[in-house]
Formats: sequence, structure tokens, C-alpha cells
Amino acid sequence: MRRLSVIASVTIILAIMISACQQQGDQVIESRWAGETVQEAVHGFENQFGGFDQTMMETNYRYNELYWAGVDENWGYAEYQLDEMLGNIEKGFIRRPERQPSSVQFVDQAAPRLMRAIKAGDKDAFMESFNRFAISCNTCHAMEDVAFIQVIVPENRTTLVRF
Ligand code: HEC
Repeated sequence: MRRLSVIASVTIILAIMISACQQQGDQVIESRWAGETVQEAVHGFENQFGGFDQTMMETNYRYNELYWAGVDENWGYAEYQLDEMLGNIEKGFIRRPERQPSSVQFVDQAAPRLMRAIKAGDKDAFMESFNRFAISCNTCHAMEDVAFIQVIVPENRTTLVRF
């Protein structure tokens, strides 16, 4: 009997919590485009953040900056770009966790190897590691069924940062 009443109270508390959450989700809000309720706004923001393509557009920019930073032996900038790139990719995995397994070779091998060359200020090691780094980007693309996206080592300087 006692156990039954505990179960009953827990069920009632849960029901209240769920309905409170639902009510919060249904709560009407004022917004210009995100939606009319909290739930719609959450969906609106998630859609606006986009998927892994947004992550990769930033990766692409940082990849280019990183390369020219190494060519210029601007090691502070190179380290900054690689750190930012990895942080951004980590955030991408929050949105698209199913992409993460294919990136292990990139995150655990190619990137740390390049970082070691940067920290050592060793341009020859940087150039060699960068080739492997590019291959590692493409390995993930192949594993993720986007093998048609083949990145190369940058050829034309487009960065506006000078050292
Ligand atoms: C998780 C493994 C993974 C790694 C590591 C990775 N990519 Fe990607 N990349 C993808 C996927 C998946 C897409 C397709 C995006 C989508 O479908 O949402 C993509 C797309 C791209 C695109 C096209 C973006 C667009 O929409 O215009 C570029 C450019 C790109 N990657 C560059 C790179 C570069 C440069 C690196 C290495 C520094 C890299 N990627 C590393 C998985 C990866």
C-alpha cells in the first residue's frame, strides 16, 4: 500500500513537471522571426545555426589562414587558427554527433602533428604535416560520402594578414 502511494506521488509529480515543460514550450513569445512559441523558437534557432556545412565553411576559411600563417612563419597566428578550427569542429559535433567517428584520424593524429610543428616553429615539419593534414580532411570527406569535396594545399595567397 505504502509503495503504491509512493508510485502514485512520483507519477503525479512527473505529470506536473511534464505539463509544466509542455506549457513552457507552448508559451507564446514575441519574436520577429524565430516563432510564436518557445518550442517554435528553439526549432527556429536550430535551423538557423545550420548543420555541418556551416562548420565546414568556417573550417575552410581557417584552413587557408592557417596555411599562409605557416608559410609566413607567423606561429602565433597559426596556433590560433588551428585552435579555433578544432574548437569550431567540436561545436559542429554537438549539432551533428554522427559525423564525429570519421574525424578521429583528423582530430587525434593529423591536427596534433601539425600543432607540434607549429609549437616547434619548424617550417619544414609544418609543410610536411600540412600535406598530411589536407589528406586527412579528404579522408573524412570520403568516409562521410562527400568525396567530391577534395581540398588541396592552398596555391594562391588570399589571406589579408601579413607578418
Ligand atoms: C567529420 C569529418 C570531416 C573533417 C575532419 C573535415 N570535413 Fe569538411 N566536410 C565534412 C562533411 C560531412 C561535409 C559536408 C557538409 C554537410 O553535408 O553538412 C564537409 C564539407 C566541406 C566543405 C564544403 C562546405 C560547403 O558547404 O561549402 C569544405 C570546403 C570542407 N569540408 C573543407 C574541409 C577542410 C579544409 C578540412 C580539414 C581542415 C575538412 N573539411 C575536414 C566532413 C569533414
